[in-house]
Amino acid sequence: MDCLQDWPEPIVRVQSLSDSGATTIPDRYIKPPSDRPSSAPSANLSIPVIDLDSLACTDGTADRAAVVRAVSDACRDWGFFQVVNHGVDPRLMRRMREAWRGFFHLPMEAKQVYANSPKTYEGYGSRLGIEKGAILDWGDYYYLHILPPSLKSHDKWPALPPSLSRETTDDYSRELIKLCEKVMKVLSSGLGLEENFLQKAFGGDDVGVCMRVNFYPKCPQPDLALGLSSHSDPGGITVLLADDRVKGLQVRRGDAWVAVQPIPDAFIINVGDQIQVLSNATYRSVEHRVVVNSEAERISFAFFYNPKSDLPIEPAPELVTPDRPALYQPMSFNEYRLYIRKNGPRGKSQVESLKAV
Ligand code: OGA
Ligand code: NI
Repeated sequence: MDCLQDWPEPIVRVQSLSDSGATTIPDRYIKPPSDRPSSAPSANLSIPVIDLDSLACTDGTADRAAVVRAVSDACRDWGFFQVVNHGVDPRLMRRMREAWRGFFHLPMEAKQVYANSPKTYEGYGSRLGIEKGAILDWGDYYYLHILPPSLKSHDKWPALPPSLSRETTDDYSRELIKLCEKVMKVLSSGLGLEENFLQKAFGGDDVGVCMRVNFYPKCPQPDLALGLSSHSDPGGITVLLADDRVKGLQVRRGDAWVAVQPIPDAFIINVGDQIQVLSNATYRSVEHRVVVNSEAERISFAFFYNPKSDLPIEPAPELVTPDRPALYQPMSFNEYRLYIRKNGPRGKSQVESLKAV
């Protein structure tokens, strides 16, 4: 990982570019025409919405089967869905949004204390990838490790503003881990496997969990830039808490992009590359991107639930048949995620490159 020691050039905070009041964006943020927001058709569809209420009661077997079917269909077809009645207190979700918004509104000196490096990505960051001269995305972020305990370090979490207590982020993490454990069971059942299958494949209690708080400042030329370039998530599953006011996430559907209309108090869940590999491509990790706008900033929380970092991840033997041989070679998540850490977001190029020859 020696190549990941430091950024290849000085870091510029997108928020300071936005706050400067300039009416044009620097060339470094101008995407080639084929990647711009208007380059592909937008489809007037929406990702499935699934009510998780029946997972809460133990006697609702019939209802559970309906949830399993809906989630399984969504993961095969879209790779994305929204969940309502997920069991996480909406007040905690709002508290997180307001507290973390407060962090990004601190004076720059207070945020710079937490500046990150590509070695672990932990802290306040403004780019993914270390390629010199790369075209950058219009967003800043804060990245933190939650599990395993050996990687979690409260010192690397912001101590300010006062409303952003570490307890708030801890409470939120605990609730989201519970939600992810439920979803992992549903995903396993939807593959026709025993409900603990995926959790075991992820290393049982030794899963990795991290979170990226994404902050997309106002952009004076939103048609030329992206808040986050097209990518699939490298990990297991992602639970996104989107902005309650401003939309921006788009999901690929064939050649078109589908804008996600966040439902109040819902989460957006998507399958990452590790689940695509484990399910031998029955479930799909689908490309998505973020568009920005000139009117309003946007905040989102991407909660990543990942396999234990040193386990080889490969298609489940139960899902490999003579008709459907293993599509991917084994790789540990530690090794896998070096790709996005070095290259930044690049569509689905990495999982494609894992294809068994
Ligand atoms: C991500 C991501 C979407 C968003 O952080 O991986 O896809 O809406 N975020 O910010
Ligand atoms: Ni993503």
